[in-house]
Amino acid sequence: MDQAAKKKRSALAAVSYIDDGMTIGVGTGSTVDFFIDALPDHAHRALSLVSSSERSTERLVRLGLDVTELSAVGDVDIYVDGADEATKHLHLIKGGGGALTREKILAGASRRFICIVDDSKLVGRLGRFPLPVEVIPMARSFVARQLVKAGGQPVWRRDFRTDNGNQIIDVRNLQIENPVELETRLNQIPGVVTVGLFAHRGADVLLVGAADDVKVMT
Ligand code: A5P
Repeated sequence: MDQAAKKKRSALAAVSYIDDGMTIGVGTGSTVDFFIDALPDHAHRALSLVSSSERSTERLVRLGLDVTELSAVGDVDIYVDGADEATKHLHLIKGGGGALTREKILAGASRRFICIVDDSKLVGRLGRFPLPVEVIPMARSFVARQLVKAGGQPVWRRDFRTDNGNQIIDVRNLQIENPVELETRLNQIPGVVTVGLFAHRGADVLLVGAADDVKVMT
């Protein structure tokens, strides 16, 4: 079974968490695309949809679904999103698609964060995938120097601008022994908008699509 089929399997497993009248946060990425494509079948259930990116909004609208602003709803009942890496502690690296800031806002606003991944994303320790950091453009070089001091190797994601008009630095070679502590530390650097570590608010449920089944981790 290829990776896309495993992603689809985990995305479809997330559909079973939908209940009538829910407000659903919709993440970003190729795994979430499978979840989005399943939503029209549930349009009759009076769902409110909040999106984490222009990309996901466009896909939802193309399918004839309405997208609501986060500020127009209360709490998000469930937030469904992918990840670039995940551990058994449900700590994540996210932001490979550059949508990390709105993703972190929706994760923070949600009662239940359901993370959908294929089994290649499950790791013993975070950090093989370069850690995305969204920065205010004028602070990019300053932030990069601080990231070197933190032990990483920052690489500017050139020709990329986030939905918020900011830039991304991908940090390689970080030894992420303590994700909660590192998230706190990197968040303190002036000019950092969002760190792609989701440890303070990790997932509540991790659905891991594999060749023979979907593993549910809580
Ligand atoms: C988007 O910014 C990311 O956080 C995605 O959730 C992550 O990159 C997973 O993407 P795929 O589902 O495409 O692997």
